[in-house]
Amino acid sequence: MPQPGETISLEQDTPELANTYERAGIVQFHHGKFLIGPLAVKAGEHVLDIGAGTGRLAEFVASLVGSQGRVIGIDPLESRIEIARLRQSKTLTFETGRAEDLSRFRDGQFDAVYLNSVFHWIEEKDRTLREVHRVLKPGGRLGLNIQDPSKPHQSRVLLRTAIAQVGLGDRHRESNPVLGATHEQLKDLFTTAGFVDYRSDLRSLIDVHADADSLLKWSESSAFGNFLDGFSKSEREQIRKAFTGLVETKRAPEGLRLERYLRFAFARKTPSNVVQIATRESLT
Ligand SMILES: C[S@@+](CC[C@H](N)C(=O)[O-])C[C@H]1O[C@@H](n2cnc3c(N)ncnc32)[C@H](O)[C@@H]1O
Repeated sequence: MPQPGETISLEQDTPELANTYERAGIVQFHHGKFLIGPLAVKAGEHVLDIGAGTGRLAEFVASLVGSQGRVIGIDPLESRIEIARLRQSKTLTFETGRAEDLSRFRDGQFDAVYLNSVFHWIEEKDRTLREVHRVLKPGGRLGLNIQDPSKPHQSRVLLRTAIAQVGLGDRHRESNPVLGATHEQLKDLFTTAGFVDYRSDLRSLIDVHADADSLLKWSESSAFGNFLDGFSKSEREQIRKAFTGLVETKRAPEGLRLERYLRFAFARKTPSNVVQIATRESLT
């Protein structure tokens, strides 16, 4: 049996989880707008949304590029793409596909590429960034957000405590240190892939959930079947009870109020005029 948090599977998603995500993923939509703002998407541009999920953010971006622009969303999960396709239009399309293989797209096809709450799920981060670099136009922009292992979400810390409380702490491998990335790790990845003007900042976000069950449903659907993976049904039930007790200490008049932290990172592909100058210099 795999240890909890050991592997990421794309095989465990279900139509039910996808439907739940379509409702609960409003959380990701809200912070996704913080990603799109600095990307400064303009009318007429071509944009790629990698890991588009059920497509809500891509639909928003399609409203920015207008009738002359184009947005393509890809995601490996068929059930999520099925929901996303309900949003499809002349300028907005969705396809199944993984971040690591963008071979269906031409070199320099996109003005901007983004990954909203996706990059920590991707195991081959270096390969993905090389592909993104290839499909961007010279000067094209990349934006992504990711958990930072040095600052786990409050709900994750409480979950870890709940798992320890029920005596399963030794079986729990915290996935964040493996899956998230710090400023320096991202800088290294971006630079190695050929990006310039890298910058990142850690943002603190407040989520309000009605109760522990809706918070757990959001986590489960966001993790497409990888949440508390490796624990048995009865172990999950014990964890759920302990977690409910802990998370209720965060109750405010508006609901359960929890802080979440995301690192937002941006960079550009070198503009063509800079390449020309470098080439000229290297000839002298
Ligand atoms: C939390 S959801 C975010 C969905 C969407 N970006 C949003 O803002 O609502 C994470 C998404 O990452 C996708 N994902 C996981 N591994 C991926 C990969 N290797 N390539 C592309 N997408 C991936 C999942 O299928 C899932 O839809």
